[in-house]
Amino acid sequence: MQSADRETDFGVYIHWPFCLSKCPYCDFNSHVRHAAVDEVRFARAFAGEIAATAARVPGRTVSTIFFGGGTPSLMQPATVATILDAIARHWPVAPNAEVTLEANPTSVEATRFRGFRAAGVNRVSLGVQALDDAALKQLGRQHSAHEALAAVAVARSIFERYSFDLIYARPGQTPEAWAAELKRALAQAGEHLSLYQLTIEQDTAFALLHAAGKLVVPDEDLGRALYDTTQAVCADAGLPAYEISNHARPGAECRHNLIYWRAHEYAGIGPGAHGRLDIGPERRATATAKRPETWLMRAESLGHGVETDEPLTRGEMADEFLLMGLRLAEGIDPARYERLAGRPLNPQRVALLREQGAVETTADGMLRVTLAGFPVLDAVVADLAA
Ligand SMILES: C[S@@+](CC[C@H](N)C(=O)[O-])C[C@H]1O[C@@H](n2cnc3c(N)ncnc32)[C@H](O)[C@@H]1O
Ligand code: SF4
Repeated sequence: MQSADRETDFGVYIHWPFCLSKCPYCDFNSHVRHAAVDEVRFARAFAGEIAATAARVPGRTVSTIFFGGGTPSLMQPATVATILDAIARHWPVAPNAEVTLEANPTSVEATRFRGFRAAGVNRVSLGVQALDDAALKQLGRQHSAHEALAAVAVARSIFERYSFDLIYARPGQTPEAWAAELKRALAQAGEHLSLYQLTIEQDTAFALLHAAGKLVVPDEDLGRALYDTTQAVCADAGLPAYEISNHARPGAECRHNLIYWRAHEYAGIGPGAHGRLDIGPERRATATAKRPETWLMRAESLGHGVETDEPLTRGEMADEFLLMGLRLAEGIDPARYERLAGRPLNPQRVALLREQGAVETTADGMLRVTLAGFPVLDAVVADLAA
């Protein structure tokens, strides 16, 4: 295929857009509703959108499914089961498919884990965020460190695979304190951890506090020291970074997220979900209505909530391939870039970045960002994409 360069992996992303409260740092498509959510109605609309999407991209075998949010662990297990059944009715699902659900680590949600397992979920990703109660309070979380670790223990006893997220580079955090916290986390970790540097996102409560000087986050040098600490502590524990913020024992990577980073094909289902569908010679970027009620009404009247559905140009596909692929420790295949872009990477720019120690070429010809290059990844991508 000339333009989309479709590979065989196919993932289905399901977005559950509701949360119990809005965390002050978060700009995900998440909404707090005081009235009960009509899950039966939503489940029917999800099933409808799955059918509509499968009619556009039939014949794929689903290798991964990911329930993200928002807070999917607020769903009833029956809702998860209905959605998984709908997926399996429209596409064959690989026998070893990875089925992940994002969960908040409160005790209430942990009581549903067995139900999620019975519905077909085989991996959970828990938003632990910190192992320090004062930090959790500042992050606006609804759980203590103790409660989060208890939820991790429940996850470990029920699922074959689990991961959890931590946010670092928090106000006042020193590399020593972070190293100690991370080691405690690693003692409870399975084979995968996601470690995100706190980002001040626009239009969040943290953005207002930050602009008013009431929330001071680590400067660039301290951020760099915290990043270096993260890499060293995790590598020592046998969980090296396979992506800029994701660590796993080799072989335990999140296969669903690899689909995004390797620019493979995926369907985005539910409010505010994005998809990349390879239809004919085109790769199409789809996005659904973000507001849950708007999406629901569209899905009920049209059979899907898609609001944008546009073919990507070769340039856009090539840029996206660089932006996503260079986040990975494995890097990108320059030949695939050339097929997508219709031109090779600029050899002078590659040579310069190599001299600066920001990129390297592996023995099998992959171009990858070095550990020294990762902290300036945005600049490396911008340079190669120019
Ligand atoms: C969709 S969110 C969360 C899933 C779940 N609702 C939760 O909060 O536990 C995925 C992850 O992104 C990370 N995240 C969200 N906003 C962030 C920010 N501003 N800076 C750094 N990490 C962030 C958090 O670690 C979070 O667990
Ligand atoms: S971090 Fe998670 S729980 Fe908090 S608002 Fe965002 S999606 Fe919801």
